[in-house]
Amino acid sequence: MLSLHVSHASVTAVDTPLLAIFFNAAESGAISLPATLQSLDESLHGAIARTLARRDFRGQRDETFTLVGTERGVERVMLVGLGKAPAARAAYRRAGSVAARAAAKLGAGAMHVLANEASPEQIEGVVAGIALGAWTYTDLRTPAPETERRAPLESATIIVSDSDEARDAFALGDALAAGQAVARRLGMMPSNVCTPDTFVETANGIAARQGNVAVTVMGRDDMEREGMGAFLCIAQATPQEPRLVVMEYRGAGDDDAPVVLVGKGLCFDTGGISMKPAPDMEWMKYDMSGAGGVMGAMEAISRLKPKVNVIGVIGSTTNMVSGTAVKPGDVVTASNGKTIEVINTDAEGRMVLADLLVFVKRFKPAVVLDAATLTGAIVFALGHNAVGLFGPDRDVVEEVRAAGERCGEPGWQLPVWDEYREQIKSDVADLRNTGGRPAGSITAALFLQEFVDGYPWVHLDVAGTAYSQSDLGWLPKGPTGTPVGTFVEFVRGRAR
Ligand code: BES
Ligand code: MN
Ligand code: ZN
Repeated sequence: MLSLHVSHASVTAVDTPLLAIFFNAAESGAISLPATLQSLDESLHGAIARTLARRDFRGQRDETFTLVGTERGVERVMLVGLGKAPAARAAYRRAGSVAARAAAKLGAGAMHVLANEASPEQIEGVVAGIALGAWTYTDLRTPAPETERRAPLESATIIVSDSDEARDAFALGDALAAGQAVARRLGMMPSNVCTPDTFVETANGIAARQGNVAVTVMGRDDMEREGMGAFLCIAQATPQEPRLVVMEYRGAGDDDAPVVLVGKGLCFDTGGISMKPAPDMEWMKYDMSGAGGVMGAMEAISRLKPKVNVIGVIGSTTNMVSGTAVKPGDVVTASNGKTIEVINTDAEGRMVLADLLVFVKRFKPAVVLDAATLTGAIVFALGHNAVGLFGPDRDVVEEVRAAGERCGEPGWQLPVWDEYREQIKSDVADLRNTGGRPAGSITAALFLQEFVDGYPWVHLDVAGTAYSQSDLGWLPKGPTGTPVGTFVEFVRGRAR
């Protein structure tokens, strides 16, 4: 596991196996050596200046160039490109990730990152990026023999200017990294390892480490008492105890209305009786990414301690095929009394979320954000590059979008017009749980909206963005950490 450190050392005074330095792409011709690197370059007999003059390294996005350093002091130097639009936090995050992955491949074990001229946003980005790129999940693998193993990247030290802003930016990036690690770990765990009880253990772990989070856990009996017929009809196919976990962080006064984060936690989604086809079904271990995002956000928030109340709520079970499974056509009653005709048992996430959205009304929320890997249709609409954003209140949706943009988790709003509601009308019940193929993500959001009452609400469909099915170079294959950044940025925005 990577540990992150901050230092104000001068670049000529550090001892490190690897020093990473960021460069903007040259507008034209060669990059010139910055004056601040003059003395480092002298110790390398001008190797950096020569590399730049020869244009072996051009500062392009995702580009790295590694030079041999000195025997002691800086043992290796890695030049890392930021590309042509380098000012943004996202560009630094991407470059940080590329640098960490390259360092891990080298087996450097530890690295320093020169960011003494970076802005606070850029420092946040670098720190989050380093953690993003260095992250691995090796729990289920036999370690390679000692003789063949390259040292995993265990420590990264960010060199920043000696200022409060720089230190705060580092702390923010560090907290975000810890939160994303929680979410990504849960995502990567297969469903025989990550069960609903794993969310209970994770919540208790955060509470024990940080001491400022209160955890409440509900099981099947408690949910029955609450009349959560929508959630429970999905959980009735599995002997696993379904879990509803509440994590309460109080950073403001008791009267301050909380930000409530809600997450879909399907440890696996077979589709139920409306079963999914076999190819790619294994990816459905990621169907808990909304809940993982809530856990990760609570980890980060409990470290950052913003002056705002935040409550995380997750609902977790496994959508299975069994003799007790809910069947297409069955009608169940949710905890707000609405009846639902289950047209397709694979539309299970909205069933779980329905009761969670009713449940959170008791907290008198200032706003509720829910995140879910809710629909395959969002991948058709927005691909893997944007979170789908939904909600009746434009301003709050915009607040979430802006938060996502700041942290490199872009989102885009889709409409929730009344006209689409026709598609979820049922012949026998108040609602049906699917609206057919057209606008599948929108009708899913409109279904959720039926259970929202008395608070502003935004729904985040993260089915296309919570995990990556391929290695994108700057982002390894697997869980991405989305939507932890959006949640944390949103909460920070509310604390100001
Ligand atoms: N968990 C899936 C959505 C999903 C699909 C996430 C692909 C990630 C990748 C969800 O429970 C689901 O199965 N949705 C159905 C809804 C349909 C039956 C109305 C879908 O998208 O096909
Ligand atoms: Mn499903
Ligand atoms: Zn699902």
